[in-house]
Amino acid sequence: IPVQPFDYVVFGATGDLTKRKLIPALYHRFKDGQFDDNSRIIGASRSKLSDDDFRKAARDAISQFVEKQYQDEKVIDRFIKICSYVPVDASNPDGSGDLGKALRDDPKIVRAFYLAVAPDLFEPIAEYLQKKKLYRRDARVVIEKPLGHDLVSSMEINDGVAKIFKEDQVYRIDHYLGKETVQNLLALRFANTLFEPIWNSAHIDHVQLTVAESVGAGTRGYYDESGALRDMIQNHMLQLLCLVAMEPPASDDANALRDEKLKVLRALKPIVNGDVAKNTVRGQYKGVKSETTSVAGYQDELPDEKKGSRTETFVALKAEVENWRWAGVPFYFRTGKRMASRASEICIQFKPIPHSIFDHAEGAPKANKLIIRLQPDEGVKLMMMIKDPGPGGMRLREVPLNLSFAATFTERTPEAYERLLMDVIRGNQTLFMRRDELEAAWKWVDPIREAWDRSTEPPQSYVAGTWGPSGSIALIERDGRTWHEDE
Ligand code: BG6
Repeated sequence: IPVQPFDYVVFGATGDLTKRKLIPALYHRFKDGQFDDNSRIIGASRSKLSDDDFRKAARDAISQFVEKQYQDEKVIDRFIKICSYVPVDASNPDGSGDLGKALRDDPKIVRAFYLAVAPDLFEPIAEYLQKKKLYRRDARVVIEKPLGHDLVSSMEINDGVAKIFKEDQVYRIDHYLGKETVQNLLALRFANTLFEPIWNSAHIDHVQLTVAESVGAGTRGYYDESGALRDMIQNHMLQLLCLVAMEPPASDDANALRDEKLKVLRALKPIVNGDVAKNTVRGQYKGVKSETTSVAGYQDELPDEKKGSRTETFVALKAEVENWRWAGVPFYFRTGKRMASRASEICIQFKPIPHSIFDHAEGAPKANKLIIRLQPDEGVKLMMMIKDPGPGGMRLREVPLNLSFAATFTERTPEAYERLLMDVIRGNQTLFMRRDELEAAWKWVDPIREAWDRSTEPPQSYVAGTWGPSGSIALIERDGRTWHEDE
């Protein structure tokens, strides 16, 4: 179903995000017939490009970042025709540029501004838009991380944007919320009767959230200022936690859902003072060199002026949600770069059976586990005990009830940005972070960060290509549990 016609202005049109994510995502939606014929994409940035230069860049982005099988020359030709470009200096309200000419003054045409620029430009751009009379009360503004490096700076960014745009116009992207498998958490929990009655401390022993990446980080310019806690936990992983732990919202209304997520964030037990050393582990990868492999360590990848950095490329931590549903159920988080493989999943570990009648059976009953694989190989797996077939008495075996998305669905799985970019036009804020959520997340994360900054201990090192430092294993084993590993 096509969305309403729109003028989508992308500030930072010559940047990496536009090239890698936004243009390919918009192309896919266009190709699938989701654009009304009267829709336009308008690139804006300081570079003095022409429409044709931008169209060429869009074409290149598609050829580089859209899978070959979806590159259809005829569609690409039509797509780039709706792209245009305006050189704009929006770094101050009186800046140059004639964006007004490219925008249509028709209330039926949705006006959206995607700020794919550094956050210190959000406020100046907002003011520029107002001064140039391009702001409309029904316009939308899209912003994304880093939305600050702590609570105070994130409030400043939000205040800056809020000078012009009201909260119902602000779309804060956390691309994890646009992932199919993440949205599927909502379907799994609230479109089935099976799980919700046991989704609590009476039946769940603990939850593990893992986002492991095999890529490194030292060559990514921004990363050293950020580190895994800010880059992955504060946003993506706390959002995952919210979806797992929240109470059922009364409806799919954006605020009904976000109210429930906010309650989870506010119920997180603060990790402060001595608990930081006890409940958190940070690591940094070191290189490996053998006859068969050679992987640089984080320090080796850094430019000279940053060598000696203590930025963490790995975090494991134990969190608790202090409310009736989750009292006593730990949530273990683990994320890192240069880990053994790329694997993101949520593992719900249920409690053991209360009484076993299988004392004489081979193999003891293992507690059930629900594994929601976010990527790659998306799917849901329920580990169950069954009787091993055969005449030789009762032998118990753990087997997966396995739902693989690739095997079940033939449709292409859309990228997160595709859904999110269209939701902006639809005016649906459900999958976007509200200001209070963002601030609650920073409030929880800040004391951990501050304690690390005060600590004289460096991050623990771990060998690139492993599951992180030994401290991470100790963190969970101390509680008599182990990290889930897919066989
Ligand atoms: C980004 C982080 O937000 O998410 C990156 O800044 C990380 O460091 C990326 O690599 C992971 O996203 P995905 O979609 O590949 O899991």
